Amino acid sequence: MNASPWSIRRIHVVDDAALDGLIDVLIDCVEGGASVSFMLPFTRERAEAFWRRVARGVAAGERVLLVAEDERGICGTVQLVLDVPENQPHRADLAKMLVHRRARRLGLGAALMRAAESAARECGRNLLVLDTVTGGDAERLYERLGWIRVGVIPRYALMPDGPECDTTVFYRDLRA
Ligand SMILES: CC(C)(COP(=O)(O)OP(=O)(O)OC[C@H]1O[C@@H](n2cnc3c(N)ncnc32)[C@H](O)[C@@H]1OP(=O)(O)O)[C@@H](O)C(=O)NCCC(=O)NCCS
Repeated sequence: MNASPWSIRRIHVVDDAALDGLIDVLIDCVEGGASVSFMLPFTRERAEAFWRRVARGVAAGERVLLVAEDERGICGTVQLVLDVPENQPHRADLAKMLVHRRARRLGLGAALMRAAESAARECGRNLLVLDTVTGGDAERLYERLGWIRVGVIPRYALMPDGPECDTTVFYRDLRA
């Protein structure tokens, strides 16, 4: 069996090279039409500001940041937001699951999800929550991996080019 064309690791410090790679992945996803908080036209400056905020959260221990790298650099990423209210110490939000278009449909999304679930367990979190645009590629991925669909919130967000889109909320009980 061939080895995966990527490796996945947790990064604790976002250095300049990682920052550049993360910016590239986010821009590629938004330009590819992904509804992940940002509108077009999307600038490098806004992407950098986003990742610098994430980097501060990582440094503060409030976020787990995983990256996947192939021979060209970072090609995917996902986060766990650990900074939840004190009455939810067992919970985390899964956020910004992004795979560069060059690395899609090879199983990297599924591998990142499994890595995020392992990282959550290592952090003592056993309940994960996420939301995603209804009807998108990610929705199928989460269902395939056993995440439970809670429901749909109509008109929750905008697609990067303007139209409203619904959002589906999922959870995963890692004790199940
Ligand atoms: C959603 C997303 C993360 C999926 O990443 P991915 O790496 O393509 O995910 P996978 O490869 O695990 O699965 C994608 C598809 O490829 C298929 N696949 C996986 N390995 C494969 C292989 N070796 N050969 C052929 N197909 C394969 C999967 O069955 C799946 O099929 P489906 O689309 O019919 O359901 C990616 O499309 C993405 O980043 N989208 C933009 C950002 C986004 O919307 N993020 C979600 C935010 S909540």
